[in-house]
Amino acid sequence: MDLRGKKALVTGASSGIGQATALALAAQGATLALSGRSVARLEELADLIATHGHVRPVVLAADLSKRGAAESLAARAVEALGHLDVLINNAAAEGVGSYAAAGDDEASRELFETNYWSPFALARALLPSMLARSSGALVSVASLGAITPISGTGHYASTKAALAIATEALRAELRGSGVRVILVYPGFVDTPMLREFKARPALPARMRRALSLMPVGTPEGAARAIVRALRRDRSTVVYPPAYAITPLMPAVSRWFTSLLFGSSAISTSTQTNRRRCCTSTLLRRASTSAARP
Ligand SMILES: NC(=O)c1ccc[n+]([C@@H]2O[C@H](COP(=O)([O-])OP(=O)(O)OC[C@H]3O[C@@H](n4cnc5c(N)ncnc54)[C@H](OP(=O)(O)O)[C@@H]3O)[C@@H](O)[C@H]2O)c1
Repeated sequence: MDLRGKKALVTGASSGIGQATALALAAQGATLALSGRSVARLEELADLIATHGHVRPVVLAADLSKRGAAESLAARAVEALGHLDVLINNAAAEGVGSYAAAGDDEASRELFETNYWSPFALARALLPSMLARSSGALVSVASLGAITPISGTGHYASTKAALAIATEALRAELRGSGVRVILVYPGFVDTPMLREFKARPALPARMRRALSLMPVGTPEGAARAIVRALRRDRSTVVYPPAYAITPLMPAVSRWFTSLLFGSSAISTSTQTNRRRCCTSTLLRRASTSAARP
């Protein structure tokens, strides 16, 4: 796809991979709508893109953890740009903690709203006009955690696994339609999300050591890989390339990950700190109560 003059919506453009992807798309001549919650950072980015001599992007604030926000964002983006050729579903949050710590509460459900339902709703809203033009690209930024979950990040990894599977199914459904579907698997990338994760005091020493051994990419590198996939009609991106083996050999990668990271659960949000638990505690409690007369 030649990106010159193409119109693209980038979610999570206020930081990290989304911000770098917006800059890379603008450099290719795309006209952008930038979305996120931090309007000041989005406006700064729009100014920066304009000072580089590109068309100033429109800024569209949206909190994608709220049901209905994605449909409204899609409508506002179409209103601002006329139509959309490219959707970069990049915004996501990390948190809640281990799968066992996730409860049937707002925080756990909001994570799925942000990381799965909103990307899905954006794609669904923009797809009909792409199909009518037999052209367009839907990009889902998932995570290698969807394939090799790390202990203590199970709920986040579940949202990403759902997104990755839905994206692959959509790709199969849209084959031959002219609309391309690209699945991006970042490994570790040096962004505020990863830095916050590494800075958590509850991170076990073994995990901290393992993290220090893993290859870490840059947001700019991830953005280049995404733009390359758009331009060269690639359907899957793994970044940094050192993790290319992960989707090809998931069983081996899982074994290696569990060997390196161990199995101790961590709490990854202050909210979870209050109701900290891990799988082994839950299992112990369950077996104790089962043993009670
Ligand atoms: N960095 C890594 O190592 C890594 C690894 C695997 C996958 N990923 C994935 O890569 C993507 C980009 O992450 P990143 O590392 O660049 O993280 P980041 O720097 O923390 O950026 C996350 C972006 O998502 C937006 N966002 C978060 N919650 C939102 C909400 N409720 N509504 C709207 N926007 C929201 C944030 O914008 P506001 O704060 O302005 O709302 C921000 O722009 C994510 O999908 C992430 O899961 C990253």
